[in-house]
Amino acid sequence: MEERPLLQVEHLQTHFATEQGNVTAVAGVSFHVHAGETVGLVGESGCGKSVTSLSILRLFGRNGSTTTEGSIWFEGNDLLSLSMDGLEKIRGNDISIIFQDPMTSLNPVYTIGDQIAEAIMLHQNVNKKAALEKAIDMLKLVGIPSPEKRVNEYPHQLSGGMRQRVMIAMGLSCQPKLLIADEPTTALDVTIQAQILDLMLKLQQERNMGIILITHDLGVVAEVCTRVLVMYLGQIVEEAPVRELFKNPQHPYTVGLMRSIPNLESKRGEPLAVIEGTVPSLHNVPAGCRFAPRCAYADATCLEQAPDLTALSADHKVRCWHHESVSLGGDPLAVI
Ligand SMILES: Nc1ncnc2c1ncn2[C@@H]1O[C@H](COP(=O)(O)OP(=O)(O)OP(=O)(O)O)[C@@H](O)[C@H]1O
Ligand SMILES: [Mg+2]
Repeated sequence: MEERPLLQVEHLQTHFATEQGNVTAVAGVSFHVHAGETVGLVGESGCGKSVTSLSILRLFGRNGSTTTEGSIWFEGNDLLSLSMDGLEKIRGNDISIIFQDPMTSLNPVYTIGDQIAEAIMLHQNVNKKAALEKAIDMLKLVGIPSPEKRVNEYPHQLSGGMRQRVMIAMGLSCQPKLLIADEPTTALDVTIQAQILDLMLKLQQERNMGIILITHDLGVVAEVCTRVLVMYLGQIVEEAPVRELFKNPQHPYTVGLMRSIPNLESKRGEPLAVIEGTVPSLHNVPAGCRFAPRCAYADATCLEQAPDLTALSADHKVRCWHHESVSLGGDPLAVI
């Protein structure tokens, strides 16, 4: 029997009350993450990747304009039925989130060293001096030069890339069981990006940490993820182990994303294939298949009836009426 997953998300729905009415940014998402695996969450801007990850720890503030339904099992607890205080104990302890924007998560009035040491002392039984030493080690690990000097600096004294690395150091220093990394390396140059991904994977192996990696970069996904979830307009449209997904994508949207990966052969200046059109507004969700208005395969059925996420095999699922006709090969223009 398969081991119980570290995280099991079931029928997650997240709604926002906006001035133009209610919107559902996450529309019934289910997935799991095992200890030691890296699950990639991909999709175009606005498809609900961040809202999905924020929903796990209900990081929407307490203003009441957000509602979340479904269940999120983590080590025997349904996080959605925990109180905010109960959740806060899990956040930064068992589950750590690294955000897209480091300025919103670093406190401007404390030094870098104090902030990392604080995180370490919260979770490990060490004194301030030892915690500061560990903080310096973590900064070194994420490739910050002169970490002994940097620990005494404030967030505004660091460049954006440095701040991002501090965030990553902080997220990893509390030794989480689950790390949610939301575009953790987008702002960094490719060398640093590779270094940080390596570090995440090394720590993952040492600690058997589960990782959810949110990214636009399918190249990164191919390199580091074990399994991939493809999201479109609040839903998962395809899920598969990484090799299977790249070899045998079954959703036209997944194929479109793959065709837009720059590769070594693509000539400089040559436009990449892009998926035509844009992600519709949440106020105007298409009836039927949500991708149909942009899909070359769409027919009357697609425009009228929403397909379910269907299992093609034990670990490959797709939400498409025409998945049997979809393939990565052939004339690219036939698909996008
Ligand atoms: N607080 C909010 N109130 C209303 N709508 C919101 C709120 N937060 C997010 N949304 C909407 O939810 C949808 C999903 O947003 P989300 O930030 O999850 O996208 P994303 O996939 O992370 O995109 P990106 O790749 O740009 O980070 C978007 O349409 C966004 O406008
Ligand atoms: Mg996002």
